[in-house]
Amino acid sequence: MIPLVQRYSDDHKFAQETAAFILKRAKRAVKERGEFTLVLSGGKTPKLIYEYFAKSPFKKEMPWENIHMFWGDERCVPYDHADSNYAMARDAFLLNVPLCLGNIHRIPADEGPPHKMAVQYEEALRGFFKDAKFPMFDLILLGIGEDGHTASLFPGDNALKEDKRWVVEVKKPIGEPAYPRITLTLPVINNASCILFLVSGKKKMKVMDEILDNQDAVKEKYPAARVRSEQLLWYALEK
Ligand code: 6PG
Repeated sequence: MIPLVQRYSDDHKFAQETAAFILKRAKRAVKERGEFTLVLSGGKTPKLIYEYFAKSPFKKEMPWENIHMFWGDERCVPYDHADSNYAMARDAFLLNVPLCLGNIHRIPADEGPPHKMAVQYEEALRGFFKDAKFPMFDLILLGIGEDGHTASLFPGDNALKEDKRWVVEVKKPIGEPAYPRITLTLPVINNASCILFLVSGKKKMKVMDEILDNQDAVKEKYPAARVRSEQLLWYALEK
């Protein structure tokens, strides 16, 4: 399937149209199955989008009581640390929308050693998805780095090779900011019903364009080029 690419120069239009896309997917999933499983991405790009969730019309129109929130990856820092992906979402919208606390499935990256916490998050996912071979999330949001990483799957890292586990640890501090991390694996990401990449900045858009131009040619170089889905979209903000 040819990925759909939307390019923006205005950050509010980018954020509003992304939130509107997520709302549309949420309403459809809840209508069809009674729930919507959304995987949030980390980093800075999604923050403005998440802030829109706490504003009209999204605060009122999102079917919050039927939404389950997950994370694609997390830095191994305290849950309220400035570099925590959970803390960013919590401050942007989680505390201001009527989501049931039990529907917020945070990666417990700060509650023990990375391997143990990755196993614990996988157990929580297996409990939710009732031991499917791989979970099928309705929508996974992903960012990319200038090195082509996505979630916390970095070039050359063993986590990229994982083809059985749903969640793995990245023990050595890596990325920007550099921390040990916990991440969903590629088989889980690629099993999603829909994947939306959120890209900001010229350098990351260049990576995006290389991937769009010839995904197979750069899949060794860029982990993001290994992401596959029947419904794959890229929303890019050139700022
Ligand atoms: C993380 C992320 C990571 C992020 C990209 C893009 O925890 O670091 O999940 O994959 O999405 O690095 O980050 P920006 O949105 O800050 O450019």
